[in-house]
Parts: sequence; C-alpha cells; structure tokens
Amino acid sequence: MARIFSGIKPTGHLTLGNYLGAIRQWVEVDQHRADSLFCVVDLHALTVEHDPARVRRLSRQAATLFLAAGLKPDLCTLFLQSHVDEHTRLSYLLECTATDGEMRRMIQYKEKSARERAAGKSVRLSLLTYPVLMAADILAYGADEVPVGDDQAQHLELTRDLAVRFNQRYGHTFTVPKAVLPAVAARVMDLQDPTSKMGKSHAEASGIVYLLDEADVVRRKIMRAVTDSGSEVAYDREKQPGVANLLEILAACRGGGSKPADLAADYSSYGALKRDTADAVVETLRPIRERHAQVCADPGYVDEVLRDGAERARRLARPTVDAAYQAIGLLPAG
Ligand code: TYM
Repeated sequence: MARIFSGIKPTGHLTLGNYLGAIRQWVEVDQHRADSLFCVVDLHALTVEHDPARVRRLSRQAATLFLAAGLKPDLCTLFLQSHVDEHTRLSYLLECTATDGEMRRMIQYKEKSARERAAGKSVRLSLLTYPVLMAADILAYGADEVPVGDDQAQHLELTRDLAVRFNQRYGHTFTVPKAVLPAVAARVMDLQDPTSKMGKSHAEASGIVYLLDEADVVRRKIMRAVTDSGSEVAYDREKQPGVANLLEILAACRGGGSKPADLAADYSSYGALKRDTADAVVETLRPIRERHAQVCADPGYVDEVLRDGAERARRLARPTVDAAYQAIGLLPAG
C-alpha cells in the first residue's frame, strides 16, 4: 500500500486554497486508498515572528478542521509535528546533505525573507532551513506521495534531490517521494489580487475565503472579487486572471471532472459567474462548518486523536531515522 504524507502549517486560519489545493484530496481520495499521515506542522509556524498563544490556538483549530473536513482517525493518522521528535532529529542530517546555495534558491525563502526585511524585521535562520525540515517530515515516513498545492512543488523537488543524494552517498535509506497536485485549483488566487496566491498569513482578508467564514461573508467576498476589464467570460490565466480564478474555484467546487474552460462557455456575464461560484463555495464549506461546531463541542476527542496519531507516527518514523543515523556514520547508543 502506498504511503502518503502531507501537512499544513498553523500560521493563519485555513483557507479555501488549503482545502481545494490539499485537504479535499486527502479526505475524498487519499485516506481511502493509502496509508496516510496528515500533520499540523507547527514547528514551521515558528520561522517568522509569532505569538505563542496564537500558534497554540491555530494548531488546535487546524487539527479540529482536519476532522471537520472529513478525515477519519480510523482511516488515517492525524498528529502534530512537535509531538514527534523524529522530524527534528532527521532534519539535522538533511542539513548536512543540503547546500547553502540550494536553500537560498527557494522561491518562498526569497519572497518571505524580502517581506520580513521590508517590514524592518530580521530574518530567522529557520526560514532559510525550513525546506530541509519539510523534507525530513516526508522522508521520515518513507512517503511515496505528497498531495500538495502548486506552491510546494519546488520544496518537493528539493526533498527528492536530498533523498537521492543521501541514498547515493550513504546507501539506500529513503523512499524518493513525488508531489501529487490536484487537477484543478492547484493554485487558488487571492480574490482581490488574482496575480498572487490566496495565502492564510496575508494581512488583508477581503480577498481570502476562510473555511469557517459564514455564508454571507463568503458571498460578499466572491461578489466583490476583482475581475478583469472587458466583459467576456474566458478561461485565460494570463489575460484574465480574476475570471480564470473564479472558473477554477467553480470547477473545483462542482467536482465531477468539471473543467474551467468548459464552464466559461456557460456564462455571458461576470455577475452570473460570481453568483454561481459563491453558491458552489457556500455549499462546499457548509458541511465543514457544521461538523466543526460538533467537533469543537468535544475538545477531549481532538486531544485523544492527536495523542494516538503521534504514537503511531513515532513508531513509523523511528526505524527510518535510526537507519539514517547509522548510515551517515553515527554510532548507535549502547
Ligand atoms: P501551507 O501550510 O502553506 O499550505 C498547506 C497546503 O495547502 C496548499 N495551498 C494551496 N493550494 C492551492 N491554492 C492555494 N492558494 C494554496 N495555499 C496553500 C499548499 O500547497 C499545501 O499543500 N511547507 C508547507 C507545509 C509542509 C508540508 C510538509 C506539506 C511542511 N512539511 C510536508 C507537505 C509535506 C506549507 O507551507 O504549506
């Protein structure tokens, strides 16, 4: 059976982008066909200035939303990264495998470090080494597949390079994983700025649909989405990024193999496209919001799921990480 690993970092409230780009595939496909591990990667939330209480709150909320979205603890393993020491144990060995140049070429590092500097903040070293910890998250479990949105593709390439390099130098230790991107909505864009990704850590919320937004808030955000000059509804990401984004969201929410380019032919006005997209998103999020309220009513349940998940994750990761320690030249303890 294939092994799947994926994660989300608790740096903000989860968005429609997180759902369509990753979580939905975990719920509808992955947990049913593979040995799947889904992780709230909380250590990754510490790479930029953070408020400890907020990270704690968002970590719990992300885990609650995993359950509300439909992940089932009897089908998959849900846990918090910081509960399993193997991630950081392995990360150091991969730091000794990666190069400084490789890290500095990562697009997300370039963008985020520039943002931090522009805001007069210092850049944490962990922002640079973050992709190595991400590689450790994946390689520790021998994952074959990593379902992610398009923005993580470069990090997955790095993970593959590190696995191959380590195996060549020290003997076969790691499975070389591959990224699995959704067919549509692999990169949901901000509704107010359709040339940039809908990101949970952005400060301006009007272009972002959060999973827990009320129906009227979702409708307002989508009806106010920036569209393009002109009035023709066509699927053209370059020339009409705003309309293309709505068509992708609509296709993804309708499911059943809907294609954005085919849907474009059904519309002659932006208004109608926005209304239908808003309806489709509201219907997609409704069951998640309802189940979220139920799961929240029983916080002990979330703790229990995370405790069991971490226990299983530790058991799975330990042998691979121990093998890597030996392969690289470290003596086993007594
Ligand atoms: P993060 O927390 O930014 O995003 C979590 C997942 O959601 C996807 N995603 C999107 N997909 C489509 N459109 C969007 N606008 C959008 N925004 C986010 C991301 O691609 C991702 O799949 N580095 C990772 C977290 C991570 C991880 C891992 C993922 C750490 N270790 C190991 C997989 C495996 C991140 O920052 O994702």
